[in-house]
Amino acid sequence: MLPAIMFLSLAPWLVLGVPPMWTQPEQVHLSYVGVPGSMVVTWTTLNKTESRVEYGFFGGRLFDMSAKGDATLFVDSGEEKRQMFIHRVTLTELKPAAAYVYHCGSDDGWSDVFSFTALNDSLSFSPRFALYGDLGNENPQSLARLQKETQLGMYDAILHIGDFAYDMDEDNARIGDEFMRQIESIAAYVPYMTCPGNHEAAYNFSNYRNRFSMPGQTESLWYSWNLGSAHIVSFSTEVYFYLEYGMDLLFKQYEWLKADLEKANKPENRARRPWIITMGHRPMYCSDDDQDDCTKFDSWVRLGRKDIKPPAPGLEELFYRYGVDVELWAHEHTYERLWPVYGDKVRNGSAEQPYVNPKAPVHIISGSAGCRERTDRFNPNPKEWSAFRSTDYGYSRMQVVNSTHLYMEQVSDDQHGKVIDSIWVVKEKHGFSAWL
Ligand SMILES: *[C@@H]1O[C@H](CO)[C@@H](O)[C@H](O)[C@H]1NC(C)=O
Ligand SMILES: *[C@@H]1O[C@H](CO)[C@@H](O)[C@H](O)[C@H]1NC(C)=O
Ligand SMILES: *[C@@H]1O[C@H](CO)[C@@H](O)[C@H](O)[C@H]1NC(C)=O
Ligand SMILES: *[C@@H]1O[C@H](CO)[C@@H](O)[C@H](O)[C@H]1NC(C)=O
Ligand SMILES: *[C@@H]1O[C@H](CO)[C@@H](O)[C@H](O)[C@H]1NC(C)=O
Repeated sequence: MLPAIMFLSLAPWLVLGVPPMWTQPEQVHLSYVGVPGSMVVTWTTLNKTESRVEYGFFGGRLFDMSAKGDATLFVDSGEEKRQMFIHRVTLTELKPAAAYVYHCGSDDGWSDVFSFTALNDSLSFSPRFALYGDLGNENPQSLARLQKETQLGMYDAILHIGDFAYDMDEDNARIGDEFMRQIESIAAYVPYMTCPGNHEAAYNFSNYRNRFSMPGQTESLWYSWNLGSAHIVSFSTEVYFYLEYGMDLLFKQYEWLKADLEKANKPENRARRPWIITMGHRPMYCSDDDQDDCTKFDSWVRLGRKDIKPPAPGLEELFYRYGVDVELWAHEHTYERLWPVYGDKVRNGSAEQPYVNPKAPVHIISGSAGCRERTDRFNPNPKEWSAFRSTDYGYSRMQVVNSTHLYMEQVSDDQHGKVIDSIWVVKEKHGFSAWL
């Protein structure tokens, strides 16, 4: 007979309806590491198994192609030191814009069957994104709408701008497991691109670093990738706040950002990918009524830290100098759109058409997807850069239409999917000289 303690330890699995089968793949998600024709499939098993993806064209013979990868052991740092294996398989030589069907696992267990469309690598492709931050395991209000819209094929990629699960490390990383199962219904169908937020900080961001598979060799902390006419740069604002994990990370990231933006601004590169879009968790500006960094004039993300040695540079000057067009943020559990802003001053394109040839980057804060902390409140007297604010739960959509036109809109989940805000950013010229 099994001792009672054994039944107790199985209880969470029985409650969740997940069989205690430790070779069964779960938490399947996709990412794009920037190589045209590729897609990475990432998933989890509790015991070590082979890592295989079997796939085929949608409507064709199932699973007539197969790819192998590797698994890494992730040991959570909680009391139980729970172990799991994170599997990564890179599919290559996919046909642009072709639809595929796949499952992943090994002969010890296979996932459900999922599908995806290989990204169109044409420069004239107009990618559509859903983007948000601060989506939790509890109260994930926007999730159902995002699941349906993703499965309807409305998005080519999702940008999750930090703060997952609340928090992935909790209950010995079982909250992380549960959250990754929750988003499978989105993330197994389109690339799910991420950056870290403050809720990932436990044990030096280890759940975040281990569970995602972003481009580059930084454990998903900072990286860039291209799609259509956009160059998208993802980074960690958290390096300004968790110096205990290494001040060198702050400087390393800054140098990397500088080098990446320098390269993206080479005339031949900027001509091909004129839009430079950044995503980072904590905003430089916001008008919420909490005491967060973005509510302060001398925000660390914006102006850097002068209280440390050596002083650390902020990001506003860097992004301005390299002509970043759009800056996406989260962290505040609200939606806020700013007039083009630099140095705390509004720099409209013109009074009538502020986003036509704007004289500074356009900032959007979208952190109201839904989590156990609920939504935040605004301060009643915002500064003049604040253009539109909403405390509804929701998320944003963005389409990089062509080299001159970018469209953004905000969806209110509270108002059953109503679009409550939208803008066109129009730029005949990109880069630093566009500001002058
Ligand atoms: C399988 O995983 C479970 C849970 O992590 C662990 O207790 C067990 O020792 C593992 N078995 C093998 C054969 O690795
Ligand atoms: C990729 O997108 C471009 C621009 O919309 C389109 O012309 C082209 O046909 C697409 N490629 C494929 C393989 O569908
Ligand atoms: C935290 O993780 C980063 C990324 O792996 C690493 O470079 C850094 O040394 C770690 N810091 C500590 C204190 O372990
Ligand atoms: C920027 O443009 C908006 C919209 O036309 C306008 O309401 C606002 O006053 C302008 N701000 C400045 C500082 O010109
Ligand atoms: C870009 O798209 C906009 C909006 O659809 C359109 O008006 C404009 O003519 C397009 N520009 C180019 C260069 O294709």
